[in-house]
Amino acid sequence: MRDDLSGRIALVTGAGRGIGLAISSGLAHQGIQVAMIDVDPVGLQEAAESVGGSALAVQADVSRPDDVQRAVDQTVEHFGGLAILVNNAGICPMSDFASITEAEWDRVLAINLKGAFLCCQAALPHLRRSGTRGRIVNMASVAGEMGGVSTGAHYAASKAGLIGLSKSLAQLLAADGVTVNCLAPGTTATDLTAAWSEADLARVRDKIPLGRLAQPDEIAQMVCFLVSDKASYITGATLDINGGLYLR
Ligand SMILES: NC(=O)c1ccc[n+]([C@@H]2O[C@H](COP(=O)([O-])OP(=O)(O)OC[C@H]3O[C@@H](n4cnc5c(N)ncnc54)[C@H](O)[C@@H]3O)[C@@H](O)[C@H]2O)c1
Repeated sequence: MRDDLSGRIALVTGAGRGIGLAISSGLAHQGIQVAMIDVDPVGLQEAAESVGGSALAVQADVSRPDDVQRAVDQTVEHFGGLAILVNNAGICPMSDFASITEAEWDRVLAINLKGAFLCCQAALPHLRRSGTRGRIVNMASVAGEMGGVSTGAHYAASKAGLIGLSKSLAQLLAADGVTVNCLAPGTTATDLTAAWSEADLARVRDKIPLGRLAQPDEIAQMVCFLVSDKASYITGATLDINGGLYLR
């Protein structure tokens, strides 16, 4: 079985830090050429340089159709194609249900769910051209499976929506050989969780059978597996990486 990923081209959203940066590094380490998309320009170029290889930094907001199309076009123009899309960008405002405003609800859904839809739609022609090497990986969350009281109902709803989007696209793109899967990480040590109170973190940690948060690399390794030829028969799946927090 082939497992040479070198020369393939990937676009990773929310790539400037945290899990997206770890994914970009993991893919670049396999010889994949990576376009790193982030709305926050601060440190994005440095992040791209840190992953090595020929990573391309593109500032874009995944919730804006024009930005998404520009990011995909720039990637294809720069590298000559696009075979792998990792929809990782996401926000988690940690609001209790009663205090979620309509604007906050719309913003969470626009970035976490609509952003993935826009990226999939813009990347679709290129992924289809890649055939059996085409891959989409969507970053859901254990909150999309279990619900999320502390992470917020809007966050949990957006991540549950991503699981539905992934299954729909897996069915649609199977005829082209493109696989579409979802990851559902548990609590992972990044800037996103660094913003949580110690009480929230302790409450979550106490419930994790492995007794610790995930590290970004542990999520990135699963992305590297899913985009490899070893995962050629996995599509429409939601893969749990949660230290035993949620057992189906
Ligand atoms: N950290 C966790 O515990 C955890 C658990 C499960 C799932 N996730 C998911 O993993 C993904 C990455 O999380 P993280 O912990 O690395 O978060 P993070 O906040 O550390 O990084 C997220 C990155 O996404 C970028 N981003 C935000 N809005 C964007 C937009 N509109 N367009 C483009 N980029 C945007 C940010 O600038 C940031 O660089 C998210 O989708 C998150 O929901 C995280």
